[in-house]
Amino acid sequence: MDKLRIRGGNKLCGTIHISGSKNAALPLICASLLTQDRVTLTNIPELSDIHSMNLLLEQLGTNIESRTEVVDGKPSKIYSYLTTKPSSLQAPYDYVRKMRASYYVLGPLLAREHYVELSLPGGCAIGSRPIDIHLSALEKMGAQIEIRNGYVIAQAPKGLTGAHHIFNIASVGATCNILMAATLAQGTTIIENAAMEPEIGNLAKMLISMGAKISGIDTPILTIEGVKELHGSIYKVISDRIEAGSYAVAAAITRGKIELLNALPNTLKTPIRILREMGVKIMEQEHSLIVDAEGCRLEGKDIMTDYYPGFPTDLQAQFLALMLTSEGASMITETIFENRFMHVPELMRMGANINVHKHASAIVRGVKKLYGAQVMATDLRASFALVLAGLVAEGETIINRIYHLDRGYEKLEEKLRGVGADIIRIKNDDLE
Ligand code: UD1
Repeated sequence: MDKLRIRGGNKLCGTIHISGSKNAALPLICASLLTQDRVTLTNIPELSDIHSMNLLLEQLGTNIESRTEVVDGKPSKIYSYLTTKPSSLQAPYDYVRKMRASYYVLGPLLAREHYVELSLPGGCAIGSRPIDIHLSALEKMGAQIEIRNGYVIAQAPKGLTGAHHIFNIASVGATCNILMAATLAQGTTIIENAAMEPEIGNLAKMLISMGAKISGIDTPILTIEGVKELHGSIYKVISDRIEAGSYAVAAAITRGKIELLNALPNTLKTPIRILREMGVKIMEQEHSLIVDAEGCRLEGKDIMTDYYPGFPTDLQAQFLALMLTSEGASMITETIFENRFMHVPELMRMGANINVHKHASAIVRGVKKLYGAQVMATDLRASFALVLAGLVAEGETIINRIYHLDRGYEKLEEKLRGVGADIIRIKNDDLE
């Protein structure tokens, strides 16, 4: 397995181009299953999760073409998806095991083909992560669902019908799945307590561009009038707010200055507010962000993760790492996932001072120095926290299991090297 080697101590300065959002692209790719026409998606990031989703669609019978175009001076990947008629209605175990978001095929296939089999996703490093809300909402829309041999088997022989849902949790995945399913259901569907993450707005607008009737975008109540069929579309994936937030922390933790081109400050209001309260200077433009921590003494802040527009759980690990280099103590509280402090024991190996209480909150005390060490990546965002710690640690940090990072950070080493980091990938082959 590949590793990263980081030699800490460099101040990061320069420009980073933010990629398209992984979490936005995954449901958009699955939404292409709702139509027999071609759907073209631009600004797709080159990530292993996207590759896994493409393999899954290919096994369902989707024809995928890709090409690269230069957009704003940067090569940008364009994929087009054509599912004239699915040749399989099953998302097998090996795909879902690799990538939970495979569950996004559930809504589209059930709505269009009235049948789908999905290997039931298990728990993962950050929690048990059930999909009960997706399933009970589909049942309410007329689906018959059973679990057999580890698979969810869902069928709706007469098609789905609209229903009024009140979600007990504002789940991102369930909101996307039911939104997609409802576009082809008979009648009206209302989703109350819908998640409001920008990726959902991106999906809803794409569905509208395909002929869907949706109102209430970016609010907690979505109303969808089912239509008979959807047509093809050309649509752009929004830029990745979590990648932008992660590199904003890279600027702050190294007390550097980075311009994040193509970032959407509008989608990062809470993290930007926290950074400012800590003492980081931030200049916002419509499509970019300058994060300037040069010469700054940063002050620790308390953070509690929450549903959008609250503080994103996907930036918790990175901000926790930042607090280690700030003055005073910070309390980080995780409210979305039950086991999302897996980065803490690894950071402690680098000299961090952190006390975790009941997997739910962590007291982080600023330390004078972090020290390079061998550490292990445990999940995608936790892995980036280790990169951040490595960037400021004295000496050399080796991060193992970086396949997690390849799931969600496009050209990570290239982007960090471009702003002055001493970081290289050690290929498995180089070690033999
Ligand atoms: C998505 C994101 C992930 C992010 C998370 C929260 C993708 C591919 N992943 O994950 O990066 O961390 O949103 O912003 O976009 N829950 C249930 N039952 C359900 C569904 C969810 O109990 O049926 C619980 C989950 O276990 C979790 C909470 O609801 O505790 C939020 O989960 P959800 O918003 O669904 O996250 P994902 O869509 O899995």
